[in-house]
Amino acid sequence: MSKTISGFSKLSKSEKIDWIVKTYFSDDTNAKQILTQYWNADEKLQQLHDEFIENTITNYYLPLGVAPNFIINGNTYTIPMAIEESSVVAAASKAAKFWMDRGGFKTEVISTKKIGQVHFKFYGNQKHLEAYFTFIKPQLLEEASPITSNMEKRGGGILDIELRDKTSDIEGYYQLHTSFETLDAMGANFINSCLEQFAKTFKTKALYFDGFSSEERHIDIIMSILSNYVPECLVKAEVSCPVEALAENSKISGEAFAKKFTEAVKIAEVEPFRAVTHNKGIMNGIDAVVLATGNDFRAVEAGVHAYASRGGSYSSLSHAEVKDGIFKFWLEIPLALGTVGGLTGLHPLVKLALEMLGKPTAKELMQIVAVAGLAQNFAALRSLTTTGIQEGHMKMHLMNILNQFEANDSEKQNLVEYFKTETVTHSAVVSALEKLRS
Ligand code: MEV
Repeated sequence: MSKTISGFSKLSKSEKIDWIVKTYFSDDTNAKQILTQYWNADEKLQQLHDEFIENTITNYYLPLGVAPNFIINGNTYTIPMAIEESSVVAAASKAAKFWMDRGGFKTEVISTKKIGQVHFKFYGNQKHLEAYFTFIKPQLLEEASPITSNMEKRGGGILDIELRDKTSDIEGYYQLHTSFETLDAMGANFINSCLEQFAKTFKTKALYFDGFSSEERHIDIIMSILSNYVPECLVKAEVSCPVEALAENSKISGEAFAKKFTEAVKIAEVEPFRAVTHNKGIMNGIDAVVLATGNDFRAVEAGVHAYASRGGSYSSLSHAEVKDGIFKFWLEIPLALGTVGGLTGLHPLVKLALEMLGKPTAKELMQIVAVAGLAQNFAALRSLTTTGIQEGHMKMHLMNILNQFEANDSEKQNLVEYFKTETVTHSAVVSALEKLRS
């Protein structure tokens, strides 16, 4: 049977499923049952999800958890997190509680500028191009005004357009490097629409510009697209307390903890192999909130990791110090987020998540997301530099192992109790379950 097909997108949903299960599964009835069991009984709700993308065959569930007790600039939040990794929400909640008693998190939005570029080729006299840019710039703005007028009324819009010479990298390569303020929208559609309009105006009007020779009039537009690198859309989150307040129990003094913790951060600052994992821990918190609030986590990931490499070597996004007896731990990250547009007004769970956060502005959401990242990083480093990560991680993973072996409720209860005092490993859980069953 052929495993390729033409016209797939034109089939109905059930025809698509029939083709998939017949083509790829030995037990097509079972495959179909798995796919359809995730359909929502509410047909309208299901249709909404079907229409988010092309070729939807079912829904892919992730747990939506919440981490309570976050104090941010004196306000209390319960943060929604969509994530599959067992220990992330537990770790966030623990860190939130820890800092709740030590002054909470402080945050600040440093800047909110976003970037988009029209990439083009021009092989003529650069002075002529510069003269054309000066001439055309007001018209670029003017012809984009049907797109920008609403955003401008609310205080946003195009901040500036620069002509950038990139010919030392690629022969004939220039950019219209543009900065935008998109307020509460993530702004991808707004930015891309503006850029495509610039490209049109820029190319068309060049055909009639007196300062160009006839060859120079043919500007070759390569592409027009926003950049997901937003180093000037920055937010800072921070925690601090007297060193002695870090001691939670008699196991380790505040001073010893602060010393190990800051050493761990320093390692991530200089050692890329560690920095990637360190930042991955930060992204555990960030992605989970970004996803729960209907934002584009791929854009955030790409931008954050580019920022982590801005010094020429991949490095830690967070930093820590002890000064005058005060422990301080902070991170600064670029985050292009929206609280209007996209999924934010469409997906019922996203709407709920945003309402839970008090319907934040994009700036407020930047701060909440940054805090989730810092909290996650604090929790990971705290475990790593004290008990080791596996203790907490495996405790949380216990339920996954029990589910894998189809443990019933009473077996689960029994073994959760048992592993309160035993080390959780895959084989230890399997043998304890076998023992219980025999
Ligand atoms: C696991 O998802 C994340 C950690 O590896 C982060 C870290 O090592 O800092 C625990």
